[in-house]
Amino acid sequence: MKASVIANKDYTIAKIDDRVYGAFLEHLGRAVYEGIYEPDHPTADKDGMRGDVVDLVKKLNVPVVRYPGGNFVSAYNWEDGIGPREQRPTRLDLAWHTSESNAVGVHEFADWCATVGTEMMLAVNLGSRGVDDARNFLEYVNHPGGSYWSDLRIKNGRKEPWNVKMWCLGNEMDGPWQVGHKDADEYGKLAANTARAMRMFDKSLELIVCGSSHMDMPSFPDWERIVLEHTYEHVDHISLHMYFANRDDNTPNYLGLSAKLDRYIETVAATIKQVKAKKKSKKDIYISFDEWNVWYHSNKKDREILDGNGGWPHAPGLLEDIYNFEDVLMVGLILNTFIRRSDVVKIACIAQLVNVIAPIMTEKGGPAWAQTIYYPYYFASVFGRGTALQLVTNSPGYETTHAKDTAFVDVSGVHNEEDGTLSFFLVNRHTSESIETEVSLQGFENATVIDHQVMTHPDLKAVNTARNQDEVAPKKGSGAKVDGDRLSVVLPPYSYQMVRVK
Ligand code: AHR
Repeated sequence: MKASVIANKDYTIAKIDDRVYGAFLEHLGRAVYEGIYEPDHPTADKDGMRGDVVDLVKKLNVPVVRYPGGNFVSAYNWEDGIGPREQRPTRLDLAWHTSESNAVGVHEFADWCATVGTEMMLAVNLGSRGVDDARNFLEYVNHPGGSYWSDLRIKNGRKEPWNVKMWCLGNEMDGPWQVGHKDADEYGKLAANTARAMRMFDKSLELIVCGSSHMDMPSFPDWERIVLEHTYEHVDHISLHMYFANRDDNTPNYLGLSAKLDRYIETVAATIKQVKAKKKSKKDIYISFDEWNVWYHSNKKDREILDGNGGWPHAPGLLEDIYNFEDVLMVGLILNTFIRRSDVVKIACIAQLVNVIAPIMTEKGGPAWAQTIYYPYYFASVFGRGTALQLVTNSPGYETTHAKDTAFVDVSGVHNEEDGTLSFFLVNRHTSESIETEVSLQGFENATVIDHQVMTHPDLKAVNTARNQDEVAPKKGSGAKVDGDRLSVVLPPYSYQMVRVK
């Protein structure tokens, strides 16, 4: 089987916003406690943050981390997480039926972000709280000093303001599971009022309003239209979330889900344009895809934990999906979709970063390791910076329940003008056939292959564990070569590859 691709230096989609490779960290399960924070761990630094986790996060070059939730934020009092630790209250977290010690709050998270070299993206609580809470939190975080909240921050040990630019106006407010869930009109008005107040403090903030929790929500896509009608002139991004699952163990269909993701983005982009036209506005709104990942492996265990405990445990092992090789392909396909939609998707956050549906897993007191999905995320984040190319791909395809024709070969291409490299991320969705793929390099003649990484595995369900951390890992590829203006590479069945030329 054969496929062909045309990559032309001048046919571009958009400059990729680095923040498309962001991540998310929620006070949920063992994401914070035993994830990033474990004061008794042998690698812990003076702040109690795990050094082994810091190292794994640093390698990913994560540009932004969204915090503190998620469903958690909709009943969170941020003031509980400031001041002397021994005076911080333990609270019941209604979203996940757990106890929150508040040992980690905004100061500790900000310090950790500085350590790993990432930017903070904070969410305000628009579930159980509203405008007042949002403006106080903003003043605490961003005002230099000389006011009640900023002086309290200084008293709590942080002199300089953090100057956080990105603020989420609540989380998944369309979901009946959300504390303080609202209909689109109620939420739209509250979000607009909150945005107005926050902008009175600082016009340059980047504000993110809640879109749909997923595409199958009954309120989709009217939710986006109504919310944007209220907020269009006051916000910069609309947030979307989507999780991917292979519940009926149908791999071809599972890998076809990226067509649904693409349609979701396309529909919301059209809704944005509709509201823009209606408002006669000159302003553009972009998509912040601030929760995405595979999530289903842990569902059964979570039901047992939540149904079985009847209590309010602190940091139980919730949402601990153990990812397999098949998920590598799905994550590669999701990232390819974001690259190809980089004209409208400007922020995206893998959900989440550590332990909770995450590329990084830890054992209490023990090792931290990379799950299978760490690698496609790593390759895209580290090498997918630059300009997305408008590739022309010709590949045979197949039908799924999500789309009539899904190409076996899925590819994205990124031109990094600074270092002159061109990086391709390729997935072969075919069950059994290798695909000989030829890429015509127009404007990149006389390039040579500078890196070639391949991920394949005879067992789609193979996983990495604490004791066998490298069962699923990339290997150096061979056989990719450039001849004149042609790059040729063979894609084995069910494989992920990165090929870079210069
Ligand atoms: O990431 C896990 C949860 O998924 C988040 O708390 C929520 O926003 C979404 O439903």
